[in-house]
Amino acid sequence: AAARFTLDPAFAVGDVDPRLFGSFVEHLGRCVYTGIYEPGHPTADEAGLRTDVLGLVRELGVTAVRYPGGNFVSGYRWEDSVGPADERPRRLDLAWRSTETNRFGLSEYIAFLRKIGPQAEPMMAVNLGTRGVAEALELQEYANHPAGTALSERRVAHGDKDPFGIRLWCLGNEMDGPWQTGHKTAAEYGRLAAETARAMRQMDRDVELVACGSSSRAMETFAAWEATVLAETYDLVDYISLHAYYEELDGDRDSFLASAVDMESFIENVVATCDHVGARLKSSKKINLSFDEWNVWYMRRFQEQADAEPLDWPEAPRLLEDNYSVTDAVVFGSLMIALLRHADRVTVACLAQLVNVIAPIMTEPGGPAWKQTTFFPFAQASRYGRGRVLDVRIDSPAYVTPKYGEVPLLHATAVRGDDGTVTVFAVNRSQSEPLPLEVALHGMPLGSVLEHSVLADTDPEARNTLADPERVTPREARGTTLRGGTLSTVLEPLSWNMIRLA
Ligand code: AHR
Repeated sequence: AAARFTLDPAFAVGDVDPRLFGSFVEHLGRCVYTGIYEPGHPTADEAGLRTDVLGLVRELGVTAVRYPGGNFVSGYRWEDSVGPADERPRRLDLAWRSTETNRFGLSEYIAFLRKIGPQAEPMMAVNLGTRGVAEALELQEYANHPAGTALSERRVAHGDKDPFGIRLWCLGNEMDGPWQTGHKTAAEYGRLAAETARAMRQMDRDVELVACGSSSRAMETFAAWEATVLAETYDLVDYISLHAYYEELDGDRDSFLASAVDMESFIENVVATCDHVGARLKSSKKINLSFDEWNVWYMRRFQEQADAEPLDWPEAPRLLEDNYSVTDAVVFGSLMIALLRHADRVTVACLAQLVNVIAPIMTEPGGPAWKQTTFFPFAQASRYGRGRVLDVRIDSPAYVTPKYGEVPLLHATAVRGDDGTVTVFAVNRSQSEPLPLEVALHGMPLGSVLEHSVLADTDPEARNTLADPERVTPREARGTTLRGGTLSTVLEPLSWNMIRLA
């Protein structure tokens, strides 16, 4: 049986915010050091930034870049990361049991963004683990105040005459997690986030603020945490955060392939919680969602390793360097589809992370940079998933999964660009069967298939590696047609697809 849906521009979900294609640079492992920053590397520029990596980051199409953590931010001392690099202190990073040299800091982060290009935007987190309102204000003044005060003049003296113009701020990170340095209850965090937000708005009414939601949907405090935090912060913040990572566990690939079922329910749960608090407060304001950490991450593997052999404070160790297969990329693409399907409320999202650490881009110190399988769905979605998301009601054959019960084999979304072209993103979750797909196109003068790009492989375990960096790349699919207002194609088993229509 075929899977089907209908597209009609009269039925849309909402406009895609460019910030949906954000990413994340944390001081963790080799994301910064020997990732984006490696003085002495053959491609390094005068600032020590790897230009081979910068080229790939541009190609990936990243917009907002969250920084400096993650768990790292809960011990972050911003003042250590500014001023002459050789005078900056070395510090213990409790989150990752590493030594932080601070050679790369705030100014270097802003320089990195400026070199990516105008599409890149800062998304800065403040430390609400070991610190509070005063330090958040100091950082904001140093970063954003034009001149004429002690902290803004310190920035100028450090060589950054122009303010950094950071608009989007995260109020801490995963404060619900017992692993977080300075972990808090929802009531404690809600008060601190509210007072920090109020003070930051006193300095600048136009900042956009993200309150911490749960660090995963599986947390025992999930939903109650969001409700308590939002009751304190509703009028003061713009977003609540969501974090989710997925991995194949105990050989259950069918459930892994359906990970987006969990992600979509998570989003819907958080929307409901936000709107419930809004209703209780009789507020007409809507809180949007910042899905500021999402990815495939083999976390169990990492935890077992970390428990067995705690690190002894190395500099830039190889940590969380997952190598992604074709199967991982298909799940990853499906997570991207889940975000687009909720573009009306998810208006910020960050792929965690950007380089080396659970990342689409990998590097070797002194050596090359290369693309993981997950690079491709993200780059395609960022390039062609701009415009308005159309409502896609899927009618599809299903399969049965141990974790989620019956799940449609097709997962899909469609985006209509300002130029009238339509891009369908689709995943076939079947591990063995091709899936015929028919899409009825209403109210749109579309006549041709510009491109059908597919990511699939006879070996679902195939991956790119340092030795074979181009083993997996998308290729053109054959036989896709658009006739009499109907798009017809067959999706290969276990595949990510992008079909562009004009
Ligand atoms: O992205 C890796 C880590 O995952 C982040 O530091 C933390 O916020 C999350 O638990």
